[in-house]
Amino acid sequence: ARGPVRIPVVVHVVSTTAAQNISDAQVESQIMVLNKDFRATNDDIDTVPPVFEQLIGDAGIEFFLADTGPDGRPSNGITRTTTEVDSFDQNDGVKSAETGGADPWPTQRYLNIWVCALGGGLLGYAQFPGGPVATDGVVITYTAFGTTGTARAPFNLGRTATHEIGHYLNLFHIWGDDGTGCRGSDEVADTPNQGGQNVGMPRFPHISCGNGPHGDLFMDYMDYTDDAGMVMFTKGQGVRMGACLDGVRKALWT
Ligand code: ARG
Ligand code: ZN
Ligand code: CA
Repeated sequence: ARGPVRIPVVVHVVSTTAAQNISDAQVESQIMVLNKDFRATNDDIDTVPPVFEQLIGDAGIEFFLADTGPDGRPSNGITRTTTEVDSFDQNDGVKSAETGGADPWPTQRYLNIWVCALGGGLLGYAQFPGGPVATDGVVITYTAFGTTGTARAPFNLGRTATHEIGHYLNLFHIWGDDGTGCRGSDEVADTPNQGGQNVGMPRFPHISCGNGPHGDLFMDYMDYTDDAGMVMFTKGQGVRMGACLDGVRKALWT
């Protein structure tokens, strides 16, 4: 085994109001959450029901704001862009200066995170590994990023970025993305088969697809609960993310 993988991050803050121009401290609060969640050192991990404790995995991934820009100059890993665009959507407009956003830093070498206003109640979205380099990375709305400043309950614990980076590292939704059916799979062996998504703050156990008595692993980051309800990755999810980092995304950390 190897020590933790360390991933350089650039956060592009794209704003049209003063509030959307979130502080460096708010950005740093998000990095701190990621460094707990991807090492299973988050305080709320003790809310996992005892019967699921043996599934908890340390993904062995750490994140840091890049200290060098693509030009080789020192940087704080945060870019700031003002825009005329009131809100962005999933069509990647925020990822290009031409469409009112900010161009990425080389996406093979940096995890690019754009923070902006997203419309339609969208908290965030991600690009899976293997997609176009020009749009690679994740986008998070400014009210669901970090734990201070403009972050709003119930999405103010930084878990939107944890979830989206899970996708960026090849994790699928835990319910298998087949609506409420029982045939869809997240391609991870240690997560229970689950019907549909869980939202809010579910009470243990929530049984579906004959997965009783313990039921859904709704406290996993790849379900859809409130931030306070998602507190773990499994060992199998960690292995899957590790395979992505040893494969398609190897240049991020080597
Ligand atoms: N893409 C999902 C959405 O926008 C992200 C959900 C993240 N969930 C959370 N509790 N932060 O709905
Ligand atoms: Zn998702
Ligand atoms: Ca399912």
